[in-house]
Amino acid sequence: MIIIKSPPEIEAMRRAGALVGRFFEEVKSLVRPGSTTFDLEQLAEEFVARHGVRGAFKGYLGYPANLCTSINEEVVHGIPSRSRILREGDVVSIDFGVVKEGYFGDAAKTFPVGKTPESSLKLMRVTEAALEKAIEASREGNRIGDISAAVQETAESAGFSVVRDFVGHGIGRMLHEEPQVPNYGVRGTGPKLGEGMVLAIEPMVNEGGYPVEVLPDGWTVVTRDRKRSAHFEHTIAVTENGTTILSLP
Ligand code: MF3
Ligand code: CO
Repeated sequence: MIIIKSPPEIEAMRRAGALVGRFFEEVKSLVRPGSTTFDLEQLAEEFVARHGVRGAFKGYLGYPANLCTSINEEVVHGIPSRSRILREGDVVSIDFGVVKEGYFGDAAKTFPVGKTPESSLKLMRVTEAALEKAIEASREGNRIGDISAAVQETAESAGFSVVRDFVGHGIGRMLHEEPQVPNYGVRGTGPKLGEGMVLAIEPMVNEGGYPVEVLPDGWTVVTRDRKRSAHFEHTIAVTENGTTILSLP
């Protein structure tokens, strides 16, 4: 069952999303060679305290941190660590969510660390473009498959692949609600998009093949071929005035 949100609920979700957007503005300056992923986590911990909100991920199914920080071949769910140092040329995907007034906001972005290979810059550009195309496809009357196909076509036409094993999701009073939002699929299929639906759309795009595996820590998802991956995510709402991005500052 897809839980429809009223306009006041969507405005509450925009307040949650806006904080997530503000976090990304703040974290940017820490993404530089020599920072550890734990430095990023410390900012997140301080940020949620400062704003009187709860981190969405910490404690979720036992996840130990506020952030997911996934470097290079790590796709998603990398755990921040004092021993993971960002190096010039890396890419780091940062995923962050909060709960404010009972509603979740969720977003992710991949950042270059210093000067990064052109191939990685392209991977990030294409993944962000795939998210933009997906948001454009999130119109009332369209279907989930239109979103999925928009991501898949954008990624594959650039020579990249989309991760199959993890998907976007409905979001509201729970982090994960129905429907699932896969990053691959067929136009005109799946649930129809209607007013009051709120979705976290999150393409994960790989430089090489789409297979992934989970490391022995039980969380970190890496590409099987150990080539790089990028991840961009926004929380969006379908409203009577069109589709709007909630996770912007
Ligand atoms: N953006 C991710 C998601 O929607 C982050 C979840 S990390 C977890 O699933 F630790 F909370 F699982
Ligand atoms: Co998400």
